[in-house]
Amino acid sequence: METIKKQGRYERIIVQLEGLLTKTSDPVARMATIAAVLSFKFDYFFWCGFYRVMGEELVVGPYQGPAACQVLLDKGVCRASVEQKKSIVVPDVHQFPGHIACDSRSNSEIVVPVYDSNSNVLAVLDVDSKSFNSFDETDQAYLEKIADLVYA
Ligand code: SME
Repeated sequence: METIKKQGRYERIIVQLEGLLTKTSDPVARMATIAAVLSFKFDYFFWCGFYRVMGEELVVGPYQGPAACQVLLDKGVCRASVEQKKSIVVPDVHQFPGHIACDSRSNSEIVVPVYDSNSNVLAVLDVDSKSFNSFDETDQAYLEKIADLVYA
């Protein structure tokens, strides 16, 4: 997708989400709404959802797409994002050491931390694509803004 088109779409999604996320501050309700909107608006988002930090585990939260791993432990892209407290763009998941393939059709991925107001990482927003190289700095910048809406 062209960058300008992608930017416009994300801008409209953020306006839509800011309207939708006014009814409750419940993080699970917000995650569910975000996953639904993103999945519906981007046809290359094959799997889109959240993993929540629960003790030593990352437990799946609201998502759209094929059934995914319920619990992630000490490896994978989501775990790396939590530990490094940063977004990770993976152009080819088969090249990422420790990548966890919940669905063999995924070929690229982006994971963005979800922070609370004290900068603790409480979850991650994870998006998978069936194509290689689906995610770029535009996706990263906007998905980080969208992740910030969960605990805003
Ligand atoms: N690929 C992720 C696991 C979650 S699925 O993509 C839905 C990882 O390596 O952490």
